Amino acid sequence: MSNPRINPSILSADFANLASELARIHTADAVHVDVMDNHFVPNLTLGLPVVDALEKVSDLPIDVHLMIEDADRWAPEYAQLGVDSVTFHAEASAAPIRLARELRAAGSKAAMALRPATPIEPYLDMLGELDMVLLMTVEPGFGGQKFLDLVLPKIKRTRAAIAGTGKPIALQVDGGISRDTILRAAEAGADVFVAGSAVYSAPEPAAEIDALRNLARIAH
Ligand code: DX5
Ligand code: ZN
Repeated sequence: MSNPRINPSILSADFANLASELARIHTADAVHVDVMDNHFVPNLTLGLPVVDALEKVSDLPIDVHLMIEDADRWAPEYAQLGVDSVTFHAEASAAPIRLARELRAAGSKAAMALRPATPIEPYLDMLGELDMVLLMTVEPGFGGQKFLDLVLPKIKRTRAAIAGTGKPIALQVDGGISRDTILRAAEAGADVFVAGSAVYSAPEPAAEIDALRNLARIAH
């Protein structure tokens, strides 16, 4: 497992002031950008033009999380913007192996996300095609939801499978991560932590990121 990384989600930021909201999280490892299309999830956020604009002004790497249908059609366009990583949902891709290869060919890291009730087992043989696996710890769609402890066994199984590949594949968790939950997610094997409301509702988001990372280090 690599050193814990904290990727705050700008879903909980002020969308009218995204550039200054980035400055408030300067201690982050990357910025997590949630793209929602009102079809894969019942919420609508932002798309290619806003990710392009963020990519141009951000000093932090951009971690794009696509909660959209037809990922095969759209995900490569995000990779072409020059972002660090693009995460598509397994449930939204007809050809995840081809898509992961297309993302890497476009110069981005390739990552695949699973909803809380989607098992990892059907995807074990394709782990080597991925730079990161994202296990959702809430049903995707909204910030501020409660962490689902029922995902912890899947985090453990996924960490063991990643260890079996011998490859440096990151294991990200997203949803309900806070000072109260990050330790058990880290103990289960996660090493990249998305936190939206916990970071942006803190009086000092940059300090909250450091506090979360220090807590996760206890487990590593
Ligand atoms: C939810 C998004 C998350 C969300 C996390 O569907 O994918 O990235 O912003 O928010 P919190 O940390 O508040 O659960
Ligand atoms: Zn997300």
